Amino acid sequence: MSETITIRDFKLEDYMALVHLWQQVGLPYKPKGRDAKEKIAREILQPTAIFLVAESDDRIIGAVLGTQDGRKGWINRLAVAPGFRGQGLGRRLIEAAEQRLEEAGIEIVACLIEDWNTISQAVFTKCGYSRHDDIHYFSKRKNADV
Ligand SMILES: CC(C)(COP(=O)(O)OP(=O)(O)OC[C@H]1O[C@@H](n2cnc3c(N)ncnc32)[C@H](O)[C@@H]1OP(=O)(O)O)[C@@H](O)C(=O)NCCC(=O)NCCS
Repeated sequence: MSETITIRDFKLEDYMALVHLWQQVGLPYKPKGRDAKEKIAREILQPTAIFLVAESDDRIIGAVLGTQDGRKGWINRLAVAPGFRGQGLGRRLIEAAEQRLEEAGIEIVACLIEDWNTISQAVFTKCGYSRHDDIHYFSKRKNADV
C-alpha cells in the first residue's frame, strides 16, 4: 500500500467526492434522505459520528462511516475505489474506524452486509468478523427515501 494514502476525517467540502465514490462503487445512496448534504452536515457534528476518508493525491479513493450507540459500534458504507482494491486499504479503513470505537470504550463492532455482497462478506470475515445467520434485519422507515 502506497505511503501517500492518508486516512483522515471527512470534511463537508469532501461531500461531492464522497457521493462520487459511493456511486462509483455501487453503494446505495439516498440523496433525499440520510445522504443529503444538510443531513450529513448535521450528522458529522454528533460525537458518535466517525466519518473517515482515504485520500491519495488530493483524490478521495476510500471511505468508511462508523457510529456507535453507547453499547455497540457500527461500520457502514465501506468503499474503496476500483483501482485501489486488494491492497489492504479496506482493512486499513475498517481498523481506523475500529480504533475510534475502541477509544470510545466500544467492545463490539457490527456491520450489516447484503446477502449478495459476497466480496464484502469475505473482507469482513478476513478482518475478524463473525457471520450471524440466525439474525434477520428489520427496519421501519418514514418513507423509501430516508
Ligand atoms: C469491500 C471493499 C471496500 C474492500 O476493499 P479492499 O481495499 O479491496 O480490501 P482489502 O484489500 O483491504 O482486503 C481486506 C481483506 O479482504 C480480502 N479480500 C479483498 N477482496 C476480496 C475479494 N474480492 N474476495 C475475497 N477476499 C477479498 C483481502 O485478501 C484481505 O484479506 P487479508 O488481509 O487477510 O489478505 C471493496 O471491495 C469495495 O469498495 N466494494 C464495493 C463497496 C462495498 O460493497 N462495500 C461494503 C458494503 S457492506
